[in-house]
Amino acid sequence: MKKIDNIVIAIDGPAASGKGSLAKKLAAQLGYDFLDTGSLYRRIALKCIENGVDLANKEEIITLARNFEEELGNYYDDSALRNDNVGSTASKIAQILDVRAVLVEFQRNFAKNAEKGAVLDGRDIGTIICPDADIKFFVTASTQERAKRRHKELQSRGINATTSAVLAEMQERDARDAIRLNEHLAPNHEVNIIDTSDMTPSEVLDTALKIVASFTNPDS
Ligand code: CDP
Ligand code: CDP
Repeated sequence: MKKIDNIVIAIDGPAASGKGSLAKKLAAQLGYDFLDTGSLYRRIALKCIENGVDLANKEEIITLARNFEEELGNYYDDSALRNDNVGSTASKIAQILDVRAVLVEFQRNFAKNAEKGAVLDGRDIGTIICPDADIKFFVTASTQERAKRRHKELQSRGINATTSAVLAEMQERDARDAIRLNEHLAPNHEVNIIDTSDMTPSEVLDTALKIVASFTNPDS
């Protein structure tokens, strides 16, 4: 029989590719639960910044992450997480496998416990967190376009940054995140690739909804 409950949708992709807005809208449209997994890394990163943790001190970061585990389900202020310093620090602490390990169970439980369905977006959802996800997306866009989007986003929040600085930060972060992104191209991971460079957010949503519909209603 066709699976209709607890459908898991994994959305991965690089920074500012549009995966977060897609994940959020897809979840709202389908009535599924939504988890922005990047915010988990960002929350730990912000704690490191606030506590003045030396990023070369792995043990201190791991201890902080382990202590943070019990706070994972708590409310947090998303706007405090959205600047590039937090994003860049998040990508550094995300390199530490013991930090990633702290977050695995929370993410898997989130997917498992969703009643109707769950949409999770991040970097390793389709490969590590939910390798058995029902539907996998890899959302991408050119580096130039992603830097342009991030720059516009920062400006709208009143944060001053030059386009070249945003582009440089993006390239640096891409390089750090690259190893995990490559895993999505492995032949054993069936994945729907959406290049959003020349697409509006609503075109991206429509494309994804059609793919979801062909899974949930294969006969329609
Ligand atoms: O929205 P954006 O792609 O800029 O960043 P994010 O999704 O909030 O993630 C911030 C950083 O956390 C990324 O650059 C990754 O290094 C890391 N991350 C990860 O390693 N695994 C995830 N599932 C999500 C984020
Ligand atoms: O989550 P991720 O960092 O991949 O990207 P996002 O937060 O969904 O999107 C980054 C920015 O690009 C947002 O301001 C979106 O509105 C914008 N965007 C866009 O201009 N065109 C798209 N097709 C998707 C997103």
